[in-house]
This record gives sequence, structure tokens and C-alpha cells, in this order.
Amino acid sequence: MGYKAMQTRISAIAELYDLISHSARNGTVTADGYLRGIAKTMSATLLGNASDIKIEVDAEALDIDPDKAVPFGLLVNELATNAVKHAFPNGIGRVVLSAKRVGGDVALTVSDNGIGIGIDTKDPDAAKAPQRRGFNYVTIFVRQLGGTIAVSPPNGAGTTVTIVLPQLGAPPPRTSERFAA
Ligand SMILES: Nc1ncnc2c1ncn2[C@@H]1O[C@H](COP(=O)(O)OP(=O)(O)OP(=O)(O)O)[C@@H](O)[C@H]1O
Ligand SMILES: [Mg+2]
Repeated sequence: MGYKAMQTRISAIAELYDLISHSARNGTVTADGYLRGIAKTMSATLLGNASDIKIEVDAEALDIDPDKAVPFGLLVNELATNAVKHAFPNGIGRVVLSAKRVGGDVALTVSDNGIGIGIDTKDPDAAKAPQRRGFNYVTIFVRQLGGTIAVSPPNGAGTTVTIVLPQLGAPPPRTSERFAA
């Protein structure tokens, strides 16, 4: 793992805590603001102003349970970092972070218009190579959140990772909180 990738992982975690603590007063984290914060941090640390790789956000103002915000943010960070690192050998492209309601679930997508993922993610051994920590982390976070993951076919036009997450929203307040002063 390179220095920049490590720095981005650390910045992402700092940003997550920052965004989560700002939102803590009303007990929720909002997907659009959260994703915008992640995109901004990533652009600053990984890309810089002069880059021709742009990270955009297309998200609804839906609530994320603060208990779920850290794994949610970390998996977004892994997938967006992958797009920036692997998708654009020419240094030009677009990454879109999206979160939308689909029925009672939230669909999170991280997509890019790059060269395509090139590994068969349906192959159970494909994600296990030692250098492929990122995808293993993503799989763990998705499992932790009770969600499902689908990756666009290898060598397609660009890469889209879709993660469907049930019950991402804030739970009803606990009794102790409801009657707190
Ligand atoms: N958006 C993408 N576009 C093109 N190739 C991708 C994309 N995402 C992942 N890949 C390919 O899949 C491989 C596995 O990704 P993974 O995140 O597991 O490992 P890594 O990024 O190489 O290393 P690490 O995440 O451990 O720093 C990458 O090495 C790359 O070849
Ligand atoms: Mg990676």
C-alpha cells in the first residue's frame, strides 16, 4: 500500500469522525453531506485541484444510522480509491458516488467511466490475492451492514459497484435517550 493510499485511508477516517460528530446532536448522519465530505477529502488528498479526475456526488438526503456510518464511509473510501488508482491510466475520468432509496433499502453505487475492473469478482479466489486488501475490506463491511454487493462485468465500459443496504436509516430512539434531560 502506497503512502498516498494510506494517507487517504487515514484522512477518510478523520473525516468520518468529524462528519459523524457534527451530526451527533440530532442523532443522524445524512448520506448526501457525508458523501460530499468524503469526495472533498479524497479530491484534496489523492487528486489535488489540477487533476482531470473528478469525484462527483449524486445522493439523496437520507439518514444513516450513526452506528453504521463508519463501515459505510470506509467502504465508499475503498471503492472510490480503487477507481482513482486503477480506472484511469490516462489520468482523465469521472467517479460518481450515489446513494438513493430503493423501496425500503438504500442503494449505494460507486461508478467510474474508466478501463473496467479486469478481474472476475464472481471468482471467489479473485479478491484473495494479498495485494487486494481493499476488496476484502469491502466484502467485510458489506457483510457487517447486512447488505449485498454486485460488480459490473469485467472489462466493460467503466466499473459500477452497487451495494444494497437494508435498514441504513436511524433507529427509533432508545427509552433511556427519549427520557433523558
Ligand atoms: N474501479 C476500478 N477500475 C479498474 N480496476 C479496478 C477497479 N477497482 C478495482 N480494480 C482492480 O481490482 C484489483 C483489486 O482491488 P483491491 O482494492 O482489492 O486491491 P488494490 O486496490 O490493488 O490494493 P489495496 O486496496 O489493498 O490498496 C485492483 O488491483 C485493480 O486491478
Ligand atoms: Mg484498493
